[in-house]
Amino acid sequence: MENNKTHYDVIVIGGGPIGLSTAYHLSKRNTRTLVLEQFTFFNQLGSSAGVSRQFRIPYPEEYMVKLVKQSIPFWDELQSLTPIPLRDKVGTLWFGDPAVHSTEGNIGQAEKALKAENVPYTTLTAAEIERKYHFRNLPSTYTGLFQPEGASIDLKATIQTLYNWNLASPVVEMKDQAPVTRIVQRQNKFEVTTPLGTFISEKLVLSPGPYANSIFHLLDFHIAATYWNMASAFYKKTRPDVQYPTWFVFQNPVGENGNQFYGFPEVDWNYPGYVRVASDFVMKPLDSPEQRTLVPNPKELAFTAEWVKNHMTGLEPVPEFTSTCLVALSKIPNKELLIEFAPASVPNHKNIVIYATGWAGKFVPILGKILSDLALDGRTPFDISHFATGPLYLTSLK
Ligand code: BEZ
Repeated sequence: MENNKTHYDVIVIGGGPIGLSTAYHLSKRNTRTLVLEQFTFFNQLGSSAGVSRQFRIPYPEEYMVKLVKQSIPFWDELQSLTPIPLRDKVGTLWFGDPAVHSTEGNIGQAEKALKAENVPYTTLTAAEIERKYHFRNLPSTYTGLFQPEGASIDLKATIQTLYNWNLASPVVEMKDQAPVTRIVQRQNKFEVTTPLGTFISEKLVLSPGPYANSIFHLLDFHIAATYWNMASAFYKKTRPDVQYPTWFVFQNPVGENGNQFYGFPEVDWNYPGYVRVASDFVMKPLDSPEQRTLVPNPKELAFTAEWVKNHMTGLEPVPEFTSTCLVALSKIPNKELLIEFAPASVPNHKNIVIYATGWAGKFVPILGKILSDLALDGRTPFDISHFATGPLYLTSLK
């Protein structure tokens, strides 16, 4: 006799926004789902730390532009579940040295991809960027693009909306303080052990964020990743009339500093009266999540503050309310997101769906749909061919 308390159709390991979104989509298909979170729900220890993210359509790759466009109806669906605006549509401003190719790509390439996908945007000179968007002292060679669909994502409200749905769902259970210590397969089922007990399922979705390898190791494989402990800070506004869009500046590195920064408008859900500016580089990537501390790198903060002082207006150039966010980045060139089944060396690998690496805040609603499709149907109508790791990188440890 099966004990319904411990048997599920799908166990989702990782209760961050992607795991909660997967459970949401599974519940819509009446799937008995258990979400296991090693820390607490809403924790600030992984890739969703900080409560805002950028929703942006510009990407250097056409397939990424397409995926962001495809995510919009899923954002709208999630929005229908809460009165709190999940995306504050202030637009995306990308600007800087047009020759720079960064982790986020290149402005010219993004323009090409936007054109190919018929996404409207306007181009800007350095003088226009200064006049319209409050930056200053920009080199005259800088160019920019503004895409009006860009938004500041209220990540806190996004997670809360998914959590509330799952809490109310008769088919979803969520357990926190439940680190997974063992996964074994018996009679084509997965037995997942945590300090709270052992739970059994037909399928697994693994969405443990930067802690991916600690779960993948339980199934004898791992991904090639590097880890960034990203620093961010809030700067006090001195001029209430100055409002920034979400923005990203592309610049060549200076010495050991990456010299790329991004920022947000003032938002009412976090430190009103302040704007968040962060560096999109780390001076020292980590080899494993265990190496991270919750202290932002002071040199990264100081370098960012210097840029704020020199190039932004209406702000006190003093970093306050700092935080860190830990992200795993794939070592495979041009593979930002990894979405795949476990490698073929793992028995029943097609019953194990994985999502790992990259900046996925803007994809939370659609990634949940994709991972639930893969778990229930073994396929998804969305083009995920670009996110496959290839056999070299999902390595068996046996
Ligand atoms: C992103 O939109 O994916 C992103 C923005 C800023 C820093 C890193 C990633």
